Amino acid sequence: MSLLLSQMLLLLLLLAAASAVPDGRCLTKCGEVEIPYPFGIGDNCSLAGGFSLTCKTMESGLKKAFYRNVVEVLNISLATGQVRMLNHISSVCYYPNHSFVSGLEWTLNMAPPYRFSDRLNKFTVIGCHTLAYIVSRHDNSSYQSGCVSMCQNKKSLTDGSCSGVGCCQTSIPKNLTYYSVTFDNVIRNAGNWGFGNCSYAVLLEAESFQFHTSYITTNQLMQIYSDASAPVVMDWAIGDETCEVAKRSQTSYACISNNSECIDSSNGHGYLCNCSTGYQGNSYVSNGCQDIDECNQQSNPCSDGADCQNMPGNYSCHCPEGTHGDAYNGTCIPNQKVSLAVKAVIGTSISLSFLLVFGMCICMIYQRRKLIQSRKRYFDENGGVQLQEKMTELGLKFSIFSKEEIEKAIKRVDKKNRILGQGGYGIVYKGKIGDNLFVAIKKPKVLSERKKKEFWKEMLILSKVNHKNIVKLLGCCLDVEVPMLVYEFVPNGNLFELIHIRIDIDNFTLAVRLNIACDSADALAYLHSPDSPRIIHGDVKSANILLHEDFTAKISDFGFSRLNPDDKEQFATVVQGTCGYLDPEFVQTGKFTEKSDVYSFGVVLLELLTGKKAIYFEQNGEETYLASSFILSKKKDRLKEHLDNQGTSEEDEQLIERIEELAVQCLSARGEERPTMKDVVDQLNNMRKPKQPSWTPSNTDDIQCFHPVTSDAQTFTSSTSCISEVALHIECAR
Ligand SMILES: *[C@@H]1O[C@H](CO)[C@@H](O)[C@H](O)[C@H]1NC(C)=O
Ligand SMILES: *[C@@H]1O[C@H](CO)[C@@H](O)[C@H](O)[C@H]1NC(C)=O
Ligand SMILES: *[C@@H]1O[C@H](CO)[C@@H](O)[C@H](O)[C@H]1NC(C)=O
Ligand SMILES: *[C@@H]1O[C@H](CO)[C@@H](O)[C@H](O)[C@H]1NC(C)=O
Ligand SMILES: *[C@@H]1O[C@H](CO)[C@@H](O)[C@H](O)[C@H]1NC(C)=O
Ligand SMILES: *[C@@H]1O[C@H](CO)[C@@H](O)[C@H](O)[C@H]1NC(C)=O
Ligand SMILES: *[C@@H]1O[C@H](CO)[C@@H](O)[C@H](O)[C@H]1NC(C)=O
Ligand SMILES: *[C@@H]1O[C@H](CO)[C@@H](O)[C@H](O)[C@H]1NC(C)=O
Ligand SMILES: *[C@@H]1O[C@H](CO)[C@@H](O)[C@H](O)[C@H]1NC(C)=O
Ligand SMILES: *[C@@H]1O[C@H](CO)[C@@H](O)[C@H](O)[C@H]1NC(C)=O
Repeated sequence: MSLLLSQMLLLLLLLAAASAVPDGRCLTKCGEVEIPYPFGIGDNCSLAGGFSLTCKTMESGLKKAFYRNVVEVLNISLATGQVRMLNHISSVCYYPNHSFVSGLEWTLNMAPPYRFSDRLNKFTVIGCHTLAYIVSRHDNSSYQSGCVSMCQNKKSLTDGSCSGVGCCQTSIPKNLTYYSVTFDNVIRNAGNWGFGNCSYAVLLEAESFQFHTSYITTNQLMQIYSDASAPVVMDWAIGDETCEVAKRSQTSYACISNNSECIDSSNGHGYLCNCSTGYQGNSYVSNGCQDIDECNQQSNPCSDGADCQNMPGNYSCHCPEGTHGDAYNGTCIPNQKVSLAVKAVIGTSISLSFLLVFGMCICMIYQRRKLIQSRKRYFDENGGVQLQEKMTELGLKFSIFSKEEIEKAIKRVDKKNRILGQGGYGIVYKGKIGDNLFVAIKKPKVLSERKKKEFWKEMLILSKVNHKNIVKLLGCCLDVEVPMLVYEFVPNGNLFELIHIRIDIDNFTLAVRLNIACDSADALAYLHSPDSPRIIHGDVKSANILLHEDFTAKISDFGFSRLNPDDKEQFATVVQGTCGYLDPEFVQTGKFTEKSDVYSFGVVLLELLTGKKAIYFEQNGEETYLASSFILSKKKDRLKEHLDNQGTSEEDEQLIERIEELAVQCLSARGEERPTMKDVVDQLNNMRKPKQPSWTPSNTDDIQCFHPVTSDAQTFTSSTSCISEVALHIECAR
């Protein structure tokens, strides 16, 4: 009968069922066995290639599922890709009466998609003095493995132990589809009949088997494993491709359910489908994988007392309101009421920090207020209000700049060129106002209280000064502690630099010198004249004579401390003249008049002529005042030593002589003997006369000096020096 079975198996042709989607007609269950797709019973109910099963009604009326009508199917698992089937137990028995050995060499040839599970099955041999072989084809080569079971005496047998005494087990390799059992003749004949007449061998699910000593001594095994068959686990897989390859084929790919994934078979070729985590069901049918409602499972996945919420493919746990903790893997603990002390501390710190911020704000506002107030105070102190009123009243063009405007103007000039001069009196900055108006901003260091009070009046007077040879005062800044003055910017340096630093004697012709003298004298005469507000300059020196590119001279820095010559007090307090230029009469008497300016101008004339500084050092290192040494040489008639190598022509020499004469007049020891500035201008103009062809007698009243714009003079314009006011004040009070 068994032989017949085996032959039937071998002869069985594999009939591939047409690939089809199971429908309502297909049985999903045969007896106790669930038949999920891709398995199926009947036509068109299973996936092609060995998944078709048959369902037979046994004599007892029970239904059983069979593979190829022969091998009974016990259980199908989609999740693990395994099928549990029944395998025949091979046995051999020796009956001493006839030395008859009965038994069968059993063969089972499973075709794809099935292969014996190497993990779950063990080749098991039960008996004494038994050697059985499992023979198989494996990877196109033959495989054979034997297992020996020996028994010394009955005592050596142990229940549950299958390790060579009465029972032996051996593993099988992967990818095994063919299986046959043979018993070795030798041992069979050398049987120790004291134990039992039969030996058994079978490939079975190891877990389902437990050795009992009674299997040796009695035929209990056959009673337990009815029909001489034991469960064996088959691994199965779809096709013989890997997932990667299979996925490319839209039609044959078996994992058609949403939320499914493909897994390469771990035993041989092919792949398996499985539902993604969080889903369960049949991944081989569309929509087969359904969300797992984790929350309604027997074991709540969330912590005790936590709320569970199911989501597609997942779930979430939350501690209920009023509790906190790990809702997934822990416990939800009721929230602790915040203690009164903690509340108080928190409250206090919050209010404290609020107070701090509030206080800081107040402080900042107060500071700002104070700043604005102080600026307003300065403005008032410096007479800003009165000045503004007067200016509008008189319609004068004079600006009162705010501190910001001044700062902005200074910032608009390169950092390198910002400072024009610096000295004991303060700093002179260069600034830019509007599109391209450059200005010089004078920022004095200090100003006496009395002068501050008078400041606005002085501004009023100075703003009226308007002469082409006087640096124009454009405005002032009053909302600072010490008021600042904004002047027109004169670009080409000053006379002091021209004579003593730049030393470009060739271009510095006598004509140019005369013109500078003429311009300066004209400006001073204007200041002294009753037409102007009558101002004594007070600090006439070469450094205060600024120059334009065309050598037009501009007088600058006339001290507003000497505005009112009648005010005796200020002369006592202010001695601002520069050594070497200072009127000796003033030094003796303290009387400062227009004639003091004339004296200083005389020194400037000498500087122009001789190219020497007002105070210079002789070769012997002796400090010498230009004015006094000049007067001395004049007396000795040794003037020539002093002069630049300028006067070469006879005409020039004559001119120089006349200028010398004028200088001597200006340097007279007594003020009364000195000419007025107006006289000086006239004389200088007269010197120009013979050289001036276009000059006509009708112009005599016009004290305009002539400026020859020679190409020689123009070459000076390339000079880059921009210092307009000079830091060469020599404090006489040292
Ligand atoms: C199975 O499918 C084939 C081809 O699609 C069809 O010819 C046959 O009738 C089907 N059988 C049944 C029982 O539906
Ligand atoms: C199929 O296997 C599962 C678990 O492996 C088991 O619970 C079930 O009883 C088995 N069914 C049959 C018919 O053997
Ligand atoms: C399929 O998924 C289930 C549940 O996620 C898992 O237990 C099983 O091992 C998976 N099967 C394979 C073949 O990976
Ligand atoms: C030997 O014994 C066995 C079992 O007891 C029996 O089946 C068989 O017929 C016997 N043979 C002879 C020749 O008596
Ligand atoms: C498998 O064996 C058969 C004959 O036994 C042989 O023709 C074939 O080439 C072998 N295949 C491989 C891949 O070794
Ligand atoms: C073995 O065979 C002998 C003789 O036929 C018989 O007496 C004995 O009971 C048998 N043993 C078993 C365990 O069947
Ligand atoms: C399967 O998922 C796709 C997108 O992932 C979706 O468009 C389709 O509707 C889903 N099918 C079903 C049956 O839920
Ligand atoms: C499994 O065995 C078959 C033949 O039985 C062979 O064609 C195949 O290559 C083997 N696969 C693996 C992964 O060993
Ligand atoms: C499920 O939710 C948990 C916790 O929210 C998260 O860690 C996990 O990655 C989620 N799993 C999936 C598949 O979304
Ligand atoms: C859950 O808690 C246990 C013990 O408290 C810990 O061993 C485990 O790692 C935790 N698991 C997670 C996912 O936090």
